Amino acid sequence: MRAIVVTDQAAGTAGMTLAERPQPQAGGNDVLVEVHASGFTPGELTWPGTWTDRLGRDRTPSIPGHEMAGVVSALGYGTRGLSVGQRVFGLAEWTRDGTLAEYVAIEARNVAPLPGDVDFTVGASLPISGLTAWQGLFVHGRFEAGQSVLVHGAAGGVGSAVTQLAREAGAHVIGTGRAADRQATFDFGAQEFVDLDNDTLEDVGGVDLVFDVIGGDIGTRSASLVRAGGMLVTIAGPPEAQPKDGLAVDFVVEADRAQLGEIAQRVRDGRLRTNIGQVADLDDAVSAFNPTERVKGKTIIRVRP
Ligand SMILES: NC(=O)c1ccc[n+]([C@@H]2O[C@H](COP(=O)([O-])OP(=O)(O)OC[C@H]3O[C@@H](n4cnc5c(N)ncnc54)[C@H](OP(=O)(O)O)[C@@H]3O)[C@@H](O)[C@H]2O)c1
Repeated sequence: MRAIVVTDQAAGTAGMTLAERPQPQAGGNDVLVEVHASGFTPGELTWPGTWTDRLGRDRTPSIPGHEMAGVVSALGYGTRGLSVGQRVFGLAEWTRDGTLAEYVAIEARNVAPLPGDVDFTVGASLPISGLTAWQGLFVHGRFEAGQSVLVHGAAGGVGSAVTQLAREAGAHVIGTGRAADRQATFDFGAQEFVDLDNDTLEDVGGVDLVFDVIGGDIGTRSASLVRAGGMLVTIAGPPEAQPKDGLAVDFVVEADRAQLGEIAQRVRDGRLRTNIGQVADLDDAVSAFNPTERVKGKTIIRVRP
């Protein structure tokens, strides 16, 4: 099968190549999926799981990409609940070969049915942004209707999903980003916008929940904005500061079939809009991941045009 492979961590996205690789087989409780569309996060190339297996053994050449939408083509021993020919989408494991390939073997519990009216390109754009937003708000952030939420990077992949889900759930949303992100942030549903380059973040006052995707100095300063009993939720690594009378939690997104279903349902009925910046074919994937200009939103690879 054709796949994007990486062998050299230092080379970053410039080291990606399109190559021929053996088709994977569905192991116990796996499904083999014929991939139609795949999502990739550039940060993956810095994660240990891209380069080694769970015991730390070199697993290069490895296939990156963890988000996918496609069609089940085989079931592994013991796999229940999905059928050959079914449309699915999901989040592949961090330490196995990924989704920038014509086929991926993936644990069945990590995928969910993809409704027939959600196209593969959209399906592949949802797992990381959608699940991260869902888990940060409702699982780790314990969000409740009526709370105020400060969403950093609100025009980005994760931030735009957080903004929409939080608004739908009854939040007052303050989005942040760069000056050029102002309109997009309002379009995703934020009621206020803070330009992190030109406004003073501290003017926001107190909020119940901060959802941080940026970290560093922005994360540290955000801790002091959390009201008593509130939360700082971050996906940018362990927080360097804790809210005075609140909690800080950092987490890594996990696959969850029920949550994928909630996300797909919202896309179908127009409550959640995905944030795709560009779509490229597998033949053009390497250049799409090495753009000459910054692309806003996710890059999705159409593996089967
Ligand atoms: N822990 C987890 O489970 C998890 C899950 C998903 C993502 N992540 C990580 O979370 C981060 C965000 O992911 P994403 O997909 O949402 O990325 P993204 O689409 O690039 O969105 C990030 C947004 O934040 C903005 N931003 C970043 N730094 C900024 C700054 N200093 N000032 C103002 N705006 C700033 C970006 O603007 P510019 O493009 O102009 O910089 C962009 O609009 C990535 O590092 C990703 O690897 C972690």
